[in-house]
Amino acid sequence: MPTNVATIETLKKEHKEGELRLDQHAPLDAQIEHLIRTDQHLNITRATKVPQLHTGPDPEGLKILPEHTRKRLVEGGVDISKGYPEIPDRSKIPVFVDQAYAIRNEDYPYIERGANADPEKKSLFAAAKEIKDVTKHIGTEITGLQLKDLTDKQKDELALLIEERGVVFFRNQKLPPKVQRDLGEYWGQVEVHPQTPQVPGLPGITVIWNDYLQKNGMNINFKNDNYGNFDILRYGSVGNQTWHTDLVHEHQPAGITHLHLDTIPDVGGDTIWASGYAAYDKLSEEFKRFLDGKKAVYVSAHSYLDRDDPFGGPKRVERVFPLVRTHPATGWKYLFVNRSMTRRIIGVTPVESDLILNYLFDVYEKNADIQVRFRWNSEPGYGTSAIWDNRSTQHRAVWDNEGIGARHGTRVTSLAEIPYFDPKSKSQREALGLPISKED
Ligand SMILES: [Fe+2]
Repeated sequence: MPTNVATIETLKKEHKEGELRLDQHAPLDAQIEHLIRTDQHLNITRATKVPQLHTGPDPEGLKILPEHTRKRLVEGGVDISKGYPEIPDRSKIPVFVDQAYAIRNEDYPYIERGANADPEKKSLFAAAKEIKDVTKHIGTEITGLQLKDLTDKQKDELALLIEERGVVFFRNQKLPPKVQRDLGEYWGQVEVHPQTPQVPGLPGITVIWNDYLQKNGMNINFKNDNYGNFDILRYGSVGNQTWHTDLVHEHQPAGITHLHLDTIPDVGGDTIWASGYAAYDKLSEEFKRFLDGKKAVYVSAHSYLDRDDPFGGPKRVERVFPLVRTHPATGWKYLFVNRSMTRRIIGVTPVESDLILNYLFDVYEKNADIQVRFRWNSEPGYGTSAIWDNRSTQHRAVWDNEGIGARHGTRVTSLAEIPYFDPKSKSQREALGLPISKED
């Protein structure tokens, strides 16, 4: 027998009496759930190589907390006296896939703020010192404006700018975590992640801190992580390094996402975004017609157990959404695929699906003219925000600092509408009157 396989008898010996209360008369799924929840050695999230962490605020995290992050948290009224970050309650983390489906698994109201905005964005632009596009097709930087001071009108206009330009950057910000969450709540229901570390006392603010996870055993390294058919479970790579769109498995997936980095390496730790509007417009008119109206299966990053087949291997939350979506604010069509979480196209064979999806991933990931790479640097004592439309873009982190030079941030995601495709909607280039090359 392999030495890493623990029998019930050895587990019983390893644990204090009473900790492992197996009841042979209880249903099997209840016994398994109990076992997983009460045994810290067992992986509850099955999110590849992300380590198991103890529930609650982590005092060990304080030992490596960067100074500027500490200052921002304390000045922002966050209580870090018991530790940082806060690890979600193990008793509430889903074990079975039906428990993961049940999270926010119903329609809820969504107000598309960008659709209510002044298309000219006069209020926002008048308050800024400079508004500059970073590349032609994606990314705009605004200077001379503090996010914490925005009026509701300016928030509407910023939403529309983000939704048109894909991502908007703000350097030299003083942004308390609570204010970041309030801004997110204005744009939609803030997603509270059941697994990832959070800012203590502020559920919905996810901590983005690879240095901490690496210290706790996360497998992140220099090796190649660009795979043809990416499967995070199989390859064990760290998901944020692979092209992806966040939270595509939600009943109402992500809309606007705001990452604020309060600690930035001197060199490295950039993030890259790509435009899904432009990726769609890269396709021939004939191929666009083929894809319009098709649906695909989108999976969660984390995996779970099947209650009815608990030894059958990891299962993910799966949702079916349009492969080409229409944006509710801009009205433009965009390609809604990503290598990490789009599993298959419905209505074609698996071989056909793989071929088509891999081509679409390549179009999205490999056309440099529809991408923006952002270096996060700000002046000392300030943080930088990137706010992106997590529907019509993909992104990936660049882990070239390899843990040298701290990098820490907080992320807030506003969930949006139930994805839809309007056959009458236009592509971005069509709507803007830009040339569209016709095939022979
Ligand atoms: Fe992400």
